[in-house]
Order: sequence, then C-alpha cells, then structure tokens
Amino acid sequence: MTKAVLPDDFARRRRQLLNHMHPGSIAVIPGAVQYRRNNDIFFPFRQDSDFYYLTGFREPDALLVLIPGRKQGETIVFCRERDPLLERRDGVILGPERCQSALGVDDAFPICDVDEILPGLLEARSQVYMNLGEHAAWDERVLTWLSELASQRPAVVATVQHVTALGHLLHEQRLIKERKEQVLMIKASQISVLAQYAALAALRPNIGEADLEAELLYSYRKQGARYEAYPSIVAAGENACVLHYSRNEALIGEGDLVLIDAGCEFEYYAADVTRTYPANGRYSQAQRALYDIVLRANQAAIDACCPGVDFNKPHDIATNILVEGLIALGLLTGSAEALIASGVHQKFCPHKTSHWLGLDVHDVGDYQLGDHWRDLMPGMVLTIEPGIYIPRDASTADIPDAYRGIGIRVEDAVLIREEGCLVLTEDLIKDPNDIERWMATSGSANAQELKEIVA
Ligand code: GLY
Repeated sequence: MTKAVLPDDFARRRRQLLNHMHPGSIAVIPGAVQYRRNNDIFFPFRQDSDFYYLTGFREPDALLVLIPGRKQGETIVFCRERDPLLERRDGVILGPERCQSALGVDDAFPICDVDEILPGLLEARSQVYMNLGEHAAWDERVLTWLSELASQRPAVVATVQHVTALGHLLHEQRLIKERKEQVLMIKASQISVLAQYAALAALRPNIGEADLEAELLYSYRKQGARYEAYPSIVAAGENACVLHYSRNEALIGEGDLVLIDAGCEFEYYAADVTRTYPANGRYSQAQRALYDIVLRANQAAIDACCPGVDFNKPHDIATNILVEGLIALGLLTGSAEALIASGVHQKFCPHKTSHWLGLDVHDVGDYQLGDHWRDLMPGMVLTIEPGIYIPRDASTADIPDAYRGIGIRVEDAVLIREEGCLVLTEDLIKDPNDIERWMATSGSANAQELKEIVA
C-alpha cells in the first residue's frame, strides 16, 4: 500500500487551484457540519469532499479561504477551538494553534471569529468563488457580508462584482485523479471485490437480502474500510428493477437473481461495483439470455474506454448492444436505431451507462464541454454499468413470463490511462459460467478462504 496523501499533497492541490483563480479573487470553501440523527445522537461525520480534497482535515465546522496573491497569506483555515469537555466526550480537536502547521496553511483562526475576520478578507476582492446551493447557511452569511460591504462603503472599497461557481475550477481538478488517488481507488475497489466474494459465498435461497448486506459490511470493516460509499443495494428478484433499492429486507427466493451493487469508501475514496448472481447457483434460460446481453454490453463499453474517446461513446455502444439483444429475444420490436431515437428502449434500459467516480460515488466534473461530450483523459475514473430491468407490472404484461421480474446490472469501475484503461474491479468474476462454477465448487471452502484473506 502506498503512502497516504500527505499535507504536502493537499498544499499542492491548493496551489494548483490558487494558480487558476482570478487575480483579486477569493474562494470560500466550507467543510461539512455534523447532522443530527435523533435527539442528541449524530450521524457519523463525513467531511465535505471539496474541503477534504484541499485540506485533508476531518473535523466538522471548518472553513477554508483561498486568496491568491495576498501578501500576509493565501490560505486560511477557520476551525473549532480546543475544548477539554468536548474532547473528553468526542475525541481530540486540532484547534487553530496546531491547525496551521498540521495542515500547512498560512493562518488559522477560531471558527467563532469568522464574522469578525472574513468580511475584512472579502473587502477589495472583485470576485468570490463559492459552491452556491451546497451549504445554504454559508451562502447566506457570505451574501449578507457582501451586501453589507457594498452598502456600507460603496465609494471607498471596490466590492465583489462576481460570485462564481467554484466547481468549474475545482471539479476539473478533482476529475483527474493523481497517482495517490488512483492507488486509494484501487484499494477501495479491491476491498469491495473481496466483500462481494464474501456475499457470494454466503448466497443461497431462503436467506435474507440483509444477510448478504451484513457480509458486505463485515468484510469492509475487517479490511479497514469503515463506511459504505453509498447504501448497499442487495436486491433479490423483482427488487432489482428498483434502481436504487436499498431496503434489503426481503427473503431471497429459489429462482431469484440477486443484484448486489455495493462499494466501500476507503480513505474517502469510493468504489462502485455491481454483479447479478443466481440464488440457487444456476441462471435459468431466460435469466442467462438477458445476462449475456448485459455482459456483452459491459465488455464492449469497457473495450471502448481509452483517451480521446468521448464520454458518451461507451454508453452508445452499450445501449446498442442491449437494444439489439432485446430485439433478438423478441422483447422489443423495430430497429435499434429507431427504438433508441424515440426513447422506447428506456422501458427496459432506463439509465445511463456511466458516471464519474472519486471522492463521491457520483463524482464531480462536467460530462459535456459546451454542447459536446467531453473526451476521456488519463486519470479519469468512470463506471460502466449497463442494465436491463423487466418489472412484473402492467407495462410488461405482453412479455413472456420467464423474462418478467428480472433486473440485471453488471458494473465495473474503469481508470483511464495513457495506454487504454485499467478495470479496477476486474478481479470480480462476471462470466456466467465462472459464476456458476464458483458457486458450485465454493460453498464453505471459498467462504473459509475469504475469511483468511480479509483477516
Ligand atoms: N452504484 C450506485 C450508484 O451509482 O448510484
């Protein structure tokens, strides 16, 4: 395992952002707050991804301010003051005194002083970068300070003329993963792959979806990943037609397929991988026919991933294969081109094939530049996740029964490299013959082997 991301790495990222900011501007980047779960209990704290990317700081109630060209210091953090009582209850607080050297910023102040200090920093700045809409309380505060500045001393100090979305600069930066980020994402994927094997080893009819979810979570924790990157989807039978199903409370039936879409978060980086397994170890003929189509779409879309290819190309390739396959099975009629152009295919293939992956499972970064899909570049990470979903409802009453109540998705995470791409989740089997063989021969043997690997 490579070294973790170090303070110097975060400082370099801040420098890169400062270099792209407009002279005379200022960026205000809030950290996350702690959300109340119920009464006096809080959800586990998760830092805001933008703030984390630039600081590595994992405490709530903090603010990063970047001011390019400011002689007294360009990088300032506001954070909680130390508090013995709070620290006894919740753990160590870094505090402004130690924040400066620990994070490598130019200055650090108590967050309770922000009302006195930040308006002065905003003075004489012509442009403010913020992520408007993401931290409503901060938006309100900053906009109030700006309007007070504008009204109090209009003739003396130049005031802010533009409030600009920070994302245009920062998210472009986040979109291209550095070497160390790539390593963390590889690790997150490996943990998630092993966790899927643990779930697969436990899979059988008449257990609960929750049993498999528990295998995933146990495996993550044993491997050093405390949290899921998103709520795990363990969907048996028709539940798999609910794209973000996460109730995970049904019993798995004998002939069900079980779709597992799950990824851990490791050192803040998300994994995302989906497989669809037969509960009893054998795909039925209809399940296998649909699975083969989805797998072909997954593989062809991955094969298309390389620098210079536009973001939507893998989706177009995958969609075409899905629709051709559904036509061949008689589940759609007409030409693939016409079905796709009219959107009729969305009845069975309702979602896009890819999203960016990184600190967020649906990571930041524009998909289009102007009117055009952007080209894939080395360092980008995206998912390839074609799927077919045939719910057992009135909309599919005309479909042969064997195909109804089935949802299949096969998803991998792909890192674009100079020479093509690396499939971060390639160690997780997806060929249906391999899956059937693994399930037939695995049983307790594989489960035991997995326990030893993650121990
Ligand atoms: N795989 C979960 C999601 O993309 O939302």
